Amino acid sequence: MVLESSRAGALFKICNPKIATAIAILSTPQEIRRFRRQDGFPGVELLALLVDCQILLKIDAGKDRELRAAEGDDNLVLWDFHDLLFHARSTEGRHANPLGGVYPYLGVVPPLPAVRPRWPGKKIDLRKFSAAHKEAISPLAKLLHERHSTRSFDEQRPITIAELSRFLENTARVLSKWRSRVYLSDGGPVVGYAVRPYPSAGASYELELYLAVDKCEGLARGFYHYDAGGHALVPIGARTDEFEALLRGAELAMGVPAPPQILITITARFGRISWKYSSLAYALILKDVGVLTQTFYLMATDMGLGGCAIGSTNIDLFAKITGIEFHVEGPVGQFALGRGWKSGAAD
Ligand SMILES: Cc1cc2nc3c(=O)[nH]c(=O)nc-3n(C[C@H](O)[C@H](O)[C@H](O)COP(=O)(O)O)c2cc1C
Repeated sequence: MVLESSRAGALFKICNPKIATAIAILSTPQEIRRFRRQDGFPGVELLALLVDCQILLKIDAGKDRELRAAEGDDNLVLWDFHDLLFHARSTEGRHANPLGGVYPYLGVVPPLPAVRPRWPGKKIDLRKFSAAHKEAISPLAKLLHERHSTRSFDEQRPITIAELSRFLENTARVLSKWRSRVYLSDGGPVVGYAVRPYPSAGASYELELYLAVDKCEGLARGFYHYDAGGHALVPIGARTDEFEALLRGAELAMGVPAPPQILITITARFGRISWKYSSLAYALILKDVGVLTQTFYLMATDMGLGGCAIGSTNIDLFAKITGIEFHVEGPVGQFALGRGWKSGAAD
């Protein structure tokens, strides 16, 4: 019999050293009779238990040349071990560990300063160069200086559907499409790409937008997917308790007593990017989220709207609402959007 450790094992906390040893040794397929002879062999009973739990998989040594495919889930195959572990552990929904601003090192290590202490050496002061250009500040520089986070929104003056349409069009809409062949020594497939207003690693554009609309003039309260290709909103039936839980999560994350007018959940179609990139797929996704987030901030500022990035997100709740498995497409970021109480005022 040949065994291989499953990527699904990434979602278990491996606290038993024997299990950890078995999984580490079996990260490449092993024949049991050879494995038995190794130091630290954990015993057949433990291996049988791991097989029952689908942490280890029996594979056919003769047939299963594509070892990842032998794991049985095409979407799981697209994940690197460390990426899936990171995703499940750095979001809410699939573990019960403390998460967020809980100050785990308070009283243990002092906080680092806000600004890095200067390197030794003779400095070149740039202030005199900047001062010369003060009066000619560009509209973009002005926007960057004005940008701030808005967490409370004007209940009497919700964002309108026309404003939402403009916001989405200028930040996330597909502008054009193109195709290109993947050039490999033995030939490669033709892959489709889209052009959008923000940059994306490898032009992957794996990010999707889902809107939980609490208040928007001209648009019914509810949950929607933004079809970036067709510039349209598609309603998705969400259970009331789950929809409310989504908005409540945003309130808690921002420390405010009311939900945002619109909560944008940024999801990733993980396979779109991990099909190409090994080892850094998930890191690229998070970088893309940062790029899109700043795009949202700047557009909201430009339109006299307010917004706030939200660092936490519940991957299990999104899976329940949409019925999409958490490792196929899931939340990687959130952004609260609406009209702030006073235009231009920070809160
Ligand atoms: C990745 C990221 C995650 C954030 N998460 C939260 C959050 O969960 N709750 C919140 O109130 N603000 C959040 N913020 C907003 C920051 O607190 C805010 O950007 C920072 O305090 C600087 O203030 P400013 O945006 O008004 O300049 C987040 C910002 C970023 C970029």
